[in-house]
Amino acid sequence: MSEPISLTAALASFDALWSPRIVTSVNDYDVRIAKVRGEYVWHTHDDTDEFFLVLDGELQIALRDSADEERVVALARGDLFTVPRGVAHKPMSPGGAAILMFEPTGTLTVGDRHDDVPDHVDATTGHRL
Ligand code: NI
Repeated sequence: MSEPISLTAALASFDALWSPRIVTSVNDYDVRIAKVRGEYVWHTHDDTDEFFLVLDGELQIALRDSADEERVVALARGDLFTVPRGVAHKPMSPGGAAILMFEPTGTLTVGDRHDDVPDHVDATTGHRL
């Protein structure tokens, strides 16, 4: 039986950066939360959009369009953004943030195509709380 989930308690239960935790599933989608700081890695999800909601702090997402033009969206607490499938993106947070993501179960955090994965990035389909 499903139980209520406190996002505050869930966020307090881990410290790892760029290492999402799965808080619940909705049909064949996972709701994941992560703590982030600094820069992630450029990557692309070929087959799925990726939903971001900022729970705390500020998140920037660098995006590359099909013409290789770059832009950065800045998201404050409470802002949400969907990265369309096939669009290269790199989340960043100089000051740190807590974020919620919604994406199909099994989606790899570094996508289907990515730059070299730095040591601080956990390439995962999400960890259980
Ligand atoms: Ni992504």
